[in-house]
Amino acid sequence: MVSDGKPFLKWAGNKYRIMPEILAQLPTGKGHRRLIEPFAGSAAVFLNTGYADNIVADANADLIGVYQHLQSEGEAFIEFCRWFFTPENNCPEQYYEFRSTFNTTTDARLKAALFVYFNRHGYNGLCRYNQKGGFNVPFGKYKTPYFPEKEMKAFVAKVTLKPQSQSPRVVFQVRSFEDTMLMARRGDVVYCDPPYVPLTETANFTTYSSGGFGPAEQEQLAELAKFCRRQGATVLISNHDTPFTQDVYASAKITSLQVRRFISCNGSDRGKAKELLALFAG
Ligand SMILES: C[S@@+](CC[C@H](N)C(=O)[O-])C[C@H]1O[C@@H](n2cnc3c(N)ncnc32)[C@H](O)[C@@H]1O
Repeated sequence: MVSDGKPFLKWAGNKYRIMPEILAQLPTGKGHRRLIEPFAGSAAVFLNTGYADNIVADANADLIGVYQHLQSEGEAFIEFCRWFFTPENNCPEQYYEFRSTFNTTTDARLKAALFVYFNRHGYNGLCRYNQKGGFNVPFGKYKTPYFPEKEMKAFVAKVTLKPQSQSPRVVFQVRSFEDTMLMARRGDVVYCDPPYVPLTETANFTTYSSGGFGPAEQEQLAELAKFCRRQGATVLISNHDTPFTQDVYASAKITSLQVRRFISCNGSDRGKAKELLALFAG
């Protein structure tokens, strides 16, 4: 397994920094050819593992669109994205003009490139939508936004299937986690990184999960993990370490992460959080 695959997107809750703990739990070897990532986000786990087959899925169609364009066009798409990273485009007027274009255009390639632009020019690299599904993150006021060329090139190298080579096969799919998990078969390795459960009972589950991920979805995920285990797959779930998660993952092998670190899923709600990894294995 390699472990230097830095994601090119900033992503709330990204797991790049706890890859060693995750890699220690993921099975490898002959019987485990395929990785399934139902909550891909920045795809940190896919980028830092070396499975022969990979399903990288997320409910966010804009996010998956970026990956699909990189896979089909490679360097040409990187060059198109670079075009937006200029000093003239790093001002609120241009940002908000691009934002309204993004919310109205039907040009998938333009949308994908603007998504990369927003990721580095928007507030905290957040990805948020209003009730009508419009992208609504404000301008981020960064002095010199970084264009992640090196990281995008590494991504392209990993996802481009070269003829007659041993390079990994990867498909990017827009799917809800339920549909993705139902694809799991014997030997598959499923890594699940759902939106976090709230840290305290007083935190409002519904407000926190404005993306529609509440206690019912968390419980459904735990049930599907058990189903996949019965199918002969291995499932690893990461989440906050709370009485709720300890309860819903009770039948799994739970590892509490010793490393306490800042969370950034919500810019206004930074704090130190204890996390866990729940392993559902045969
Ligand atoms: C904590 S992030 C994953 C972070 C990722 N592991 C990384 O390292 O960047 C959770 C992801 O779940 C996705 N998501 C939210 N609800 C979902 C659903 N119902 N089905 C599939 N994906 C969902 C979000 O779009 C987000 O990318």
